[in-house]
Amino acid sequence: MSSVVVVGTQWGDEGKGKIVDLLTKYADFVVRFQGGNNAGHTLVVEGKKFVFHIIPSGILYGDKMCMIGNGVIIDPGVLISEIDQLQKKGLSVSPARLMISERAHLIMPYHASLDQAKEAALSENNKIGTTGRGIGPCYMDKVGRTGIKAGDLLDDALFREKLKVEVEEKNFLLTKKYNAPPLQYEEIYRLFMGYAEKLTPFYGNVSVELDKARKNNQNILFEGAQGTQLDIDHGTYPFVTSSNTIAGNACNGSGFGPAYIDAVVGIMKAYTTRVGAGPFPTELSDATGDQLQAKGCEFGATTGRRRRCGWLDGVVANDAARLNGLTGLAITKLDVLSGQKNIKFATSYTLEGKTVSAMPSNISQAGAVVPVYESLEGWKEDIENVREYDDLPIQAKDYIRRIEDFTGVPANIVSVGPDRAETLLLTNPFDK
Ligand code: GDP
Ligand code: IMO
Ligand code: MG
Repeated sequence: MSSVVVVGTQWGDEGKGKIVDLLTKYADFVVRFQGGNNAGHTLVVEGKKFVFHIIPSGILYGDKMCMIGNGVIIDPGVLISEIDQLQKKGLSVSPARLMISERAHLIMPYHASLDQAKEAALSENNKIGTTGRGIGPCYMDKVGRTGIKAGDLLDDALFREKLKVEVEEKNFLLTKKYNAPPLQYEEIYRLFMGYAEKLTPFYGNVSVELDKARKNNQNILFEGAQGTQLDIDHGTYPFVTSSNTIAGNACNGSGFGPAYIDAVVGIMKAYTTRVGAGPFPTELSDATGDQLQAKGCEFGATTGRRRRCGWLDGVVANDAARLNGLTGLAITKLDVLSGQKNIKFATSYTLEGKTVSAMPSNISQAGAVVPVYESLEGWKEDIENVREYDDLPIQAKDYIRRIEDFTGVPANIVSVGPDRAETLLLTNPFDK
């Protein structure tokens, strides 16, 4: 039995969905443990593209159990539409394939309204550039102990009571503070009763089931969303999301003990992207940045926003190695770097004449650091068709080796295209 956690090492969109889909082949269970439908995970299988916001990326296999853990926040409308879309494509999503934790909190319509109203009210410099999906306000209610849990839909009186209190308070904020329209209690109640009918058959105790799986020697794959620098504690706060995105939260967010985690794979794009506002030391505001954006098709899978692009950042990589306890890397989108004469790699930052080797916690400092680069030779060849490590151009191998040496973490996987097949599996993280 092995348990493997997959996390993003940068600011999200590193290709987690693709790698989770690939590794699902070796897993029995695939578990989302944090975040909500702010995530957009893209999978391409035999040319067919799928984007999942809330359903675990293991769902395409049909014979694996996908789980949504207690740490996830669920917008039921989005989850139901993902289930419906999969069913239209002939993929059955039954309770035998998908389990939802009763402890997961629900994203309510007022959370999205508040998220959008709060963003709109911020000055240009302070906007976070959230996905507008209600993530911050929903996690605020969870931590504030006023949230509505998936399981509350099973208890009509409790749900009615909680909803009434919440709608009243949120309408006060929406109308009095943000000058936004109020929401109707009855409408939300009826909408959620409809959702309850569709979702409650999927409810279960994820922690108990994962414990059984462990005792039955089954393999478990944990699918992170967002990335290490978006972590609420360790990221570039306040330009972060509202959950812990690092590997430790795989345990909290699913009810699985930390001693049972065997491997942590950090997904690392061969360059860096960021969607939304906030510090990005290696950002390229020049033709090279535009080239990476165009060649990498760097548009957000959730909001369609253009992703900011830059060179790979070794400081961010080492932060990820330390914070997640990475045992392996999956280096993705290496094909996008083909044709670059030279590839730059940031090995540290300078700040007011001093060397900095971890992301500063102070946001002004994080915005002011200047990367120190080393330059590596690029390669001309297209590499999408390479399937053996030895067939990669020497310069690509040197680049991978430099990343491994710098982080002290071996590359388990190298990805050379969006399709499941366009991957080199060097070491299977499920092999102990
Ligand atoms: P996630 O949020 O980490 O799952 O990543 P996204 O799905 O938001 O963004 C990654 C994008 O890169 C998707 O469009 C993937 O299909 C694509 N992708 C993943 N791996 C590769 C790769 O190795 N090469 C190329 N060219 N595209 C890739
Ligand atoms: P995946 O799982 C990239 C970013 C938003 C914004 C900040 C806060 O696809 O990698 P939020 O809506 O969470 O309150 O927004 O976090 N963000 C992501 N960026 N990939 C994601 O998910 C993201 N989820 C949130 O753009 O900057
Ligand atoms: Mg994404």
